[in-house]
Amino acid sequence: MNPIADRRAGVLREALSAGLLHPDRAPIASFIDGATLRENVESLRRAFAGGPDVLHAFAAKAGSLPVLLRMLRELGMGAEVASEGEFEMALRAGFAGGEIVFDSPAKTNREIERALACGAQINIDNLQEFERIARRLGEGVGGDAIERSIGFRVNPQIGTGSIEAMSTAGAQSKFGVGIRDAESRSRVLEAYLRAPWMNSVHVHVGSQGVASEMMVEGIREVTALADEINGRVGAQRILTIDIGGGLPVDFQSDDGDPGFERYAAALRSEVPRLFSGDYRIVTEFGRSILAKAGFMAAFVEYTKSSGGRPIAVTHAGAHVATRTVFMPDSWPLRILPFTGSGEPKTGGEVVQDVAGPCCFAGDLIARGRSLARLDAGDIVVVPDTGAYYASTPFTYNSILAPGIYAAEWEGAGDGAVGFRPVREPQTMASLLAASGAELLG
Ligand SMILES: Cc1ncc(COP(=O)(O)O)c(C=O)c1O
Repeated sequence: MNPIADRRAGVLREALSAGLLHPDRAPIASFIDGATLRENVESLRRAFAGGPDVLHAFAAKAGSLPVLLRMLRELGMGAEVASEGEFEMALRAGFAGGEIVFDSPAKTNREIERALACGAQINIDNLQEFERIARRLGEGVGGDAIERSIGFRVNPQIGTGSIEAMSTAGAQSKFGVGIRDAESRSRVLEAYLRAPWMNSVHVHVGSQGVASEMMVEGIREVTALADEINGRVGAQRILTIDIGGGLPVDFQSDDGDPGFERYAAALRSEVPRLFSGDYRIVTEFGRSILAKAGFMAAFVEYTKSSGGRPIAVTHAGAHVATRTVFMPDSWPLRILPFTGSGEPKTGGEVVQDVAGPCCFAGDLIARGRSLARLDAGDIVVVPDTGAYYASTPFTYNSILAPGIYAAEWEGAGDGAVGFRPVREPQTMASLLAASGAELLG
């Protein structure tokens, strides 16, 4: 077997014996394999090593869990946040202001003031936000002493990938300032010439579904823009180029290579100016760091057949796999059948649906999939769900959110497994509080 699959099977067995996954008390749980997470971060650091100064900011939207953010900080990453909530989680996880990158298309005054005060990097989404920040800095908000990176998020308007909702460099994308629109290009240049505190540029061409060639193309455009601004200013005004995240993940296999080496090599060859030493680099990877480190495991509660189609009714549905259930063609996931005692189930394949517990007919995490026949009491393991699954919950039907545990191996993957809670299973009291039940008195 391959190491990711080996460790996953081991974590499942140990989670069952530790009672973290239990048919009655915890019919679904999620796990993050610490070794895979570490390998991914190390591979990212290696890929960009030996060049200019780099801050690798983990995209907190991929896994908005303070304990996970703390683990990534311990591995030397920064944090990219896109809301007040993610910002607060990053601070709780221990990130210093200068290790935080703040991206959001709708930053409020309060959020801007906080980001300025703690010295976070601010990626400005639009020209109105630029004017707002200029006013705040003019009023002395945040003080002058703090060194910070501030600049526009630029949309290079070079096209879209295969998942429309994940593509941010289309001509009409909602993010950033379109640099091919003649008027906004000249207003962006004016802003940089006018404001000496504007010292960075940011681009994020998109996420899953965008070819890495397109990402490289977008980065080439903003690097040229940075050179142009510096040329016009006649000094090194732009100090930081934030190249975003977006490296796609293979959801069809256990190939563990996130592809950072290839991506950095393509950037070195296609955009050598980025590595000239004139610019500090910031990256914002999320999915490629976390997806393959995580999996969920859920018990099959019942099985039945309808119109000749076998259906396994499990505890993994839209509440934990929202994107997969609502956009099954864009986000298909593998399903790995196991027995209730954690043994892989192979052979005897039948075409079946794997359904979740939510009350709507489309709540299926796999449709018409050929798998070993699932029986009540079996377990379905859903791999590659480390990123963007816990952070995109769907609260319909008020189903308690499962616990999430980080698994650490003693020894080289063959010792015992220690579990660190990343998020405790939701209690009924917390679910009722989140639904406003306290207003009943
Ligand atoms: C601005 C920005 N940076 C980084 C990311 C992370 O992308 P990925 O998880 O695909 O690496 C996103 C994802 O939406 C984003 O919008």
